[in-house]
Parts: sequence; structure tokens; C-alpha cells
Amino acid sequence: MVYEFTNKLKSKINKLKEKNKSICLGSIYFDSPLLLAPMSQISNAPFRYLMQELGSGGSVSELISCHGINYRNQKTLDMLKVWPEEKNVGIQLFGEDAESMKKAADIAQTYNPKFIDINMGCPVRKVVSKGGGSALMKDPTKLENFFNEIKSVLSIPLTIKIRTGWDTDSRNALEIVSIAKSCGIEFVAIHGRTRTQQYKGSADWNYIEHIASENILPIIGNGDLHDPVSVKKRMKSSSCKAFMLGRGPLRSPFLFLEAMDDTSNTFTANDYFEVIMRLSSLYESYFDEKKNVINLRKHILWFSHGFKNSVHLRSNIFQIKDLGGLLELSKSYFLELGEETKASQYDSSFMTSGHG
Ligand SMILES: Cc1cc2nc3c(=O)[nH]c(=O)nc-3n(C[C@H](O)[C@H](O)[C@H](O)COP(=O)(O)O)c2cc1C
Repeated sequence: MVYEFTNKLKSKINKLKEKNKSICLGSIYFDSPLLLAPMSQISNAPFRYLMQELGSGGSVSELISCHGINYRNQKTLDMLKVWPEEKNVGIQLFGEDAESMKKAADIAQTYNPKFIDINMGCPVRKVVSKGGGSALMKDPTKLENFFNEIKSVLSIPLTIKIRTGWDTDSRNALEIVSIAKSCGIEFVAIHGRTRTQQYKGSADWNYIEHIASENILPIIGNGDLHDPVSVKKRMKSSSCKAFMLGRGPLRSPFLFLEAMDDTSNTFTANDYFEVIMRLSSLYESYFDEKKNVINLRKHILWFSHGFKNSVHLRSNIFQIKDLGGLLELSKSYFLELGEETKASQYDSSFMTSGHG
């Protein structure tokens, strides 16, 4: 059964959503400058749709292998699906050679995304050892042909997501943005770390701002915007046209809304429980029960971070194998906290591996 938010929560959400200002990056329209970042095994249709309901202005899918698409691997093709209710979604592809990427992009665009995005930030060895992900930043001379080939089959815009460079001594994001501009790429999202940094240290916002202020292409800044204060601060003073939020909304699904709120931290444990119910029902139409349980459990643990006694929830949750039991446990935990709000805790060690 599809769980709908209560009227009380709906009206709170809608009030804050009214503060969203739509933007255009190149020719691509978004409902707000705050977008959900691509995250492998997370930014699938149900989660993207939930974040849209909770104020994200658009999103990019998890990274999808161009080879998997070209081999017509069913699991890979399923990842391409964009729900008709979803707005402003890009499909992100990864791969290393222009021919395979071109073929895959041609197939991907038939799934009705708004744009196709190329993953040029993935630091994972399995991907970079073949020349994909952030390895694409290593030899910019190849990029003009790479972009032009992919663009040649597309009737929708092409975008890229990069890091600042391969390592500190070879930070070439600015050069790549210029090449992207000359090839008609619509915008560039930049995660402010190098490949070598992986997820260590902090995102270098000075570097991101420097590139954005050159005004070559619209820049989406990304990295470490995990709490409303950091997001608001950035929105006030940045040369970036938009921002991508990744790990932040995993712990605070209301982050897109809280960033629009003058008084932070107004969402309660009751509201978090509603999000769990909603996500579970969206997952029901996407995953079988086993996968729903595995995925939902992750989200429940992330959501509980910062609430009282989350350690207790953590120690019980892995014993539960069925959806009913998982929802019961969450209900007793979150509803007991009731109107309590969570402490905003930035913690740079949260999820220090990923594909971009
Ligand atoms: C679990 C996880 C999976 C990720 N998967 C992708 C991906 O598929 N494609 C991509 O471009 N970036 C991916 N990333 C990187 C994020 O999009 C983002 O650039 C990074 O997490 C920094 O932003 P944040 O501090 O807001 O999380 C992933 C990150 C995480 C934590």
C-alpha cells in the first residue's frame, strides 16, 4: 500500500517548497538550485522521487555502466528507468571509450531523462584502471573527441561531473571546463576533491569558487554540504549556479527543505518515521521484500544518526529480517522520540567511499 504523508507534514513541506527558486543551467531547468547528487545504489528512482517530494530541484542517477547497457544486461537496463512522476533527472553513464559511451547514451536517452551525464569523478580502482571515471581527467587531449562523439547521437543535453583533478599537482578542472564549453556541454558539476584524495580531507571550495567565478559554464558545486548552515552559507555567497547534496540528505532527508528554512531543525522524529514509511512504500514497487529490507535498514540507520539512543536501535536492527518487523522497530524508536529534533552533527568520516 502506498503511504502518503499526513496533511500536517505535507503542509510543512509545501510551505518550505514555496521558497524554492527555479533555475536554468544552460538549457536545463531545475526546480531549485539544490540537487540530489548521484550515488551508487542509492540514487535510484524511488529515492530520487522521495527527495523530489522533499524539495530537491532535480537529480542525477547512480552511475550506470555503458558496457552493461550495450550488452543489454537486464539489471543495468532497469537502472535506466526514470519514473514518469520524476522531474529533472539526468542519467549518469560511466565508461572509457567514446564508441561504447556513444552507443549507451543513444539507448539511455530513450528512457526519457532530461540529460545524460558522464561520470568523470569515480575514484574506484576497478573503474579507473580501465580508463573510466576520474581517469578521464588524466588526458584532456582525448576529451574533445570523447564529448563530441557522445553528443553526436544525443537529442538531449550532455553534462559532466568531475573532481578537481587527479592529484594535487595535476588539478586541471579549469582546463576541462573550457574543453567542455567548446564541445557544447551544458554544465559541469565539481566534487571539490582530487581522485587521490578519495573522500579524505575537505572539499576545496576555494578551488570550486575560483572555477565558477571564471563564468565559462554553469558550475554545480559539490562536497561536504551536509547541514543546513553550510548549505545556506554557500547559497548566499557562491559563484556556483547550483549545488549537489549527496551524503547530507542520507542522514537528513529534510536537508533540501531545511536549507530554505529561516529556523533550522524543525523536523521531528515523527516526521522521520513518516519518511521511512513513504520510502518503504516507494521501494515496494521497485524492490522485492528482501531488497527493500536491506535498503531500508541502511536508511533507517542513517536517519537515526543524531537522535537519542540510536545506538540501541543499531544493536537491534540487524536481527530483523522482514519488512513488517523493521517498520515496527522503527515505529517504536521514532514515535517514542515524538516531537524531538535531532542534533545536527557534521561528521566528515561518514561514508568515505563512493563512485564520484
Ligand atoms: C555511497 C556513495 C556513492 C556515490 N556514487 C556516485 C556515483 O554513482 N556517481 C558520481 O558521480 N558520484 C558518486 N558519489 C559521489 C557523490 O555524488 C558526491 O560527489 C560526494 O559524495 C561528495 O558530496 P557530499 O559530500 O555531498 O556527499 C558517491 C558518493 C557516495 C558517498
